[in-house]
Parts: sequence; structure tokens; C-alpha cells
Amino acid sequence: MYKHTLELPKNNSHLTILGIESSCDDTSASIYSDGKICSNVVASQKIHEDFGGVVPEWASRKHQQNILPTVQMALKNAGLAMSDIDGIACTQGPGLMGSLLVGHSFTKGLAIAADIPYVNVDHIDAHVLAHFIDGDIPSLPFLCLLVSGGHTQIVKVNEDYTIKILGKTIDDAAGEAFDKAGKMLNLPYPSGPMIDKLAKEGDAKRFKFNTPKVGALDFSFSGLKTSILYFLQKEVRNDADFILKNKNDLCASIQYTIVSYLMSKLEKAILETGISQIGIGGGVAANSLLRSSLEGLAAKHNAAGYIPKFEYCTDNAAMIAFAGKVKLEQHNYGTLTDVCFTRK
Ligand code: KG4
Ligand code: ZN
Repeated sequence: MYKHTLELPKNNSHLTILGIESSCDDTSASIYSDGKICSNVVASQKIHEDFGGVVPEWASRKHQQNILPTVQMALKNAGLAMSDIDGIACTQGPGLMGSLLVGHSFTKGLAIAADIPYVNVDHIDAHVLAHFIDGDIPSLPFLCLLVSGGHTQIVKVNEDYTIKILGKTIDDAAGEAFDKAGKMLNLPYPSGPMIDKLAKEGDAKRFKFNTPKVGALDFSFSGLKTSILYFLQKEVRNDADFILKNKNDLCASIQYTIVSYLMSKLEKAILETGISQIGIGGGVAANSLLRSSLEGLAAKHNAAGYIPKFEYCTDNAAMIAFAGKVKLEQHNYGTLTDVCFTRK
């Protein structure tokens, strides 16, 4: 019988952890051992591109196909076998229920078979803790703007790595705003990277879009989406080729609007908390304007700005393995009756 309170067999500083991530459309497995990431394998699902967004049913089926080969490859790339693993860390939520269930149930089964403990990891917390995996690491307390396709939050990481949410979106996420704007501009999904690229040749001040006024450190992006839609509908009525002719300026203006909005809230958080260690994380942290704006904001406030390596910004299991290490060290184990959650 599996003992979920099983003690770790080795000295904590030499833990070898298998991380598993399957919250959305990427199946990922990673090995964290002796204080570093030894492998990080991500199987992305191209199938959703044709649908202009993630199709939950397809995502869970693809996870079923990919999970075992992904874990096997992570072990192989690290030069390890399952018998070397001390514990498994797995995303419990938030995410798509069908997707989460694949990784979570797989983890429980593997933990029983290997007779090792497993820990539940919060996907958003893991995105934030990705700053502490390796490289230039912030000191605590730390202020992080987390921006992805599913989440937009400003959080404070306390001295004991606990995370307090200071503000969050009340509707769409920042990545969703990029993707939905891209869809209106007939760009492929996910549109963030393409908007970033096309914006480089565009005039960011040419078109003005409204960003809604919401409380304190919260965000709202649904009004921006409507503002872009109405603007485009009006212009296209006068000139059917308006989008085609103005693609670069539209991308630059939309990107500028989203990034300025995000930065204005982060600046507010700096002023309110007095914290001078600041960072960005999540898939949208790949955005070139957001990255340079973070540097500018840090310089303005005499603060230090941090961005994790690109592969630790998009969905990945390395961040899950690392966040799992923190929980394993605290002996905060999962149990076989734990369930996944779709929202926080
Ligand atoms: O964190 P992530 O890989 O997956 C989620 O958990 O959602 O984030 C994906 C999001 C997508 O919305 C994508 O359009 C956006 O990140 N993204 C970008 C860029 N690269 C990815 N948005 C703006 N500029 C980019 N360069
Ligand atoms: Zn994510």
C-alpha cells in the first residue's frame, strides 16, 4: 500500500525530483537534481493552431499520448532511471480539468509504483518561483508581474517563499488580449509572438486604444478587446484592406497599449510596497517591449529587474520540479485523494 506520508530517503540537499506539467496544451517533464535542472522536455501541441485557441478535448487526448514518452525522455536526457528519483512534483491546478487529470493521475500511479512521495504544485506559483531556479536570482521580498495566456497577476514573494496576490485580472489575461487582437488581425494562434515581430516595423503611437479603469492593482482586458474590434469594424467599412495596409502600426499600437497598462500597474505596486526586487514571468514575458520596459522601470526606481530564461517563462516542468523541491523540503506531501482544480 502506498504511504503518502513516506519520508524522503536522502539528505534534502541532494534531492532528485521529477516534475510533471500538463495544465494546458504542453506536456512537460523535467528532472531537478543536486540544485540544478538536468533536463526539461516539452511536447507542444500544434493541433490547436487550426482552431485559433486551445481545444480542451484535443489537449487531454494529446497529453495521454505524450506523457509517458516525455517522462522517459526527461529521465534519459538526465542520464537517470526512475529508481534515482526521490519524489515527484505535479501541477494540481489551475488549468483545464481534462489536461490536469492526465498528469495528476499519472503522477499518483507512478508514485505508487516507485514507492516515493509526490507533491502538488500550483501552476501560477511555479511560474513565479521560476525566477529562483538558476542564474541571476532575486532576493526576497520580490515583486512579480505574471503574464501568460491564462493568467495576469502581480504577486509578492515573501521571505519563506509564500506568495501573496496583490492584484489580478478580473476578466481576460494579457496573453489572451494579444491572442484575441491577433485573431482580429488575421494572425495565426497564438498571436503574441507575431504581434511582437510585426510591431518592430510599426508606429506604436499611431492608433490609441482604451484601457479600462479598474481598482488598485487589478487588470481588465475585455474592454480593450471591444475597443479594438469596434475600431477595426469602422475602418474596414471604409477600406476593406485597412488591416492589411496597417498591420505593423496596428500591432505596434496594440502591443504598446497592453505593455504600458501592465507596467503602470507594476509601477503602482513598487510605490505601494517599496519593494525594489521586481520581475516578470509567464509566456508574455517573452515580449520584447515588455522586457525592455521592465529594465526601464527598474532603472527609474533604482530597483533590480529579473526575467527567467525563456524556457522557464513558457509552460514547462522545470518550474514545477523546482517549486516541488520547496514543498518536498517542507514535507508538504500530496495524498491519493487530492483533486485537481481549474481556478484559484
Ligand atoms: O505561459 P504560456 O506559455 O502559457 C500559458 O500558461 O498560457 O503563455 C502563452 C501566451 C500566449 O497568449 C502567447 O500569445 C503569449 O504567451 N506570448 C507572447 C509572446 N510570446 C508568447 N505575447 C506577446 N509577445 C510575445 N513575444
Ligand atoms: Zn502557464
